[in-house]
Amino acid sequence: MSTHKIAVIPGDGIGPEVIDASLGVLEAAGRAFGFTTDLTMIDAGAGRYLRTGELWTAALDEQLRGHDAVLFGAMGDPAVTPGVLERGFILAMRTAFQQAVNLRPVKLYPGVATPIADLTPERCDLVIVRENTEGAYVGRGSTVHAGTPHAVAVQESVNTRQGVERVVDYSFRLAQQRRGKLTLCHKKNILIEAGTLWQDTVDDLAVRYPDVEVDYVHVDAMCFHLPVAPERFDVVVTDNLFGDIITDLGAVIQGGLGVAASANLNLDGSAPSMFEAIHGSAPDIAGKGWANPVGAVLSTAMCLAHLGEREAALAIEAAAVNVLRGLPGLSGPAMGMDTGGVGREIAEQLGQAPAVTGRSVMDDLAASAMAGSAAPRR
Ligand code: IPM
Ligand code: MG
Repeated sequence: MSTHKIAVIPGDGIGPEVIDASLGVLEAAGRAFGFTTDLTMIDAGAGRYLRTGELWTAALDEQLRGHDAVLFGAMGDPAVTPGVLERGFILAMRTAFQQAVNLRPVKLYPGVATPIADLTPERCDLVIVRENTEGAYVGRGSTVHAGTPHAVAVQESVNTRQGVERVVDYSFRLAQQRRGKLTLCHKKNILIEAGTLWQDTVDDLAVRYPDVEVDYVHVDAMCFHLPVAPERFDVVVTDNLFGDIITDLGAVIQGGLGVAASANLNLDGSAPSMFEAIHGSAPDIAGKGWANPVGAVLSTAMCLAHLGEREAALAIEAAAVNVLRGLPGLSGPAMGMDTGGVGREIAEQLGQAPAVTGRSVMDDLAASAMAGSAAPRR
């Protein structure tokens, strides 16, 4: 029986609630599919920061490196200056662990309400590959004459050929496993330097993947096409900031932030990958049991798929989707059950819910882990 050593960071706000629900599902999946988990609960986030001033420390870095994967709830708290935890912890981990790819599926599951009239699940099944360590997120720049009417703020966006190439290569391989289409999303008509580097990289690598059809869409046009014609896309590869923005749009299309899941993938097995729902800590509803745990549960399933537990991941996805379609509303009291109740219902339906139709991102992750294009920690 394999044992997966997973570090769990519940964090702040609704983080602990959605993680708690996810751990119940994880445990049930282990029983049903014959694996065990060795969990380390990590105290990090606003509480710890306010008590000790600690964010991403060298000791934590070392401790987490000893795990196969990291499950992450959410971080952010009104008592902490915005950006401190986000930059000081989440981005610090993505960078330290070289989680080069932020993989965010945009899949409309059957029975889930979407604000896009007439959209059907068959038409909405794509994945966004967001570059996760560079671009504007490097947080470099300077301000001259700060605080005066002459203030000049320079904010840099760093794009390295190597950093871009590794996510573009991953995206080509992913497209090969899926419907064979890769779309580069950028703003190369305006951001000439970065845009050229991205387009050149795609063009150069395309030669190695003649079976993948390549397309390009400007990021502003993407905001139009994604809701109106998502069937146009299979794999979308994009820069860190554009990816941040269009994946929120993607989440809305597939039923809201409560449903959207993500994987922060280290591609070479040199450090653990991290799995988190796309939503934030939502302090306004924390502790009420109003948060929809499905995004976190699906992120947990992505974690299992990455660790080679494909069957368990697919079963969790199927059960989560079946529970989701039965909920009268997607969050708050309208959900008809509290966060823990939704988690327990998913756990109960494991192995009993009908399989999800269409390509599953769980298969994508299991296949890339096996092929070594996103290897689990060695
Ligand atoms: C996300 C979030 C983060 C980001 C924040 C919390 C740092 O918005 O994961 O999309 O900007 O990447
Ligand atoms: Mg975001």
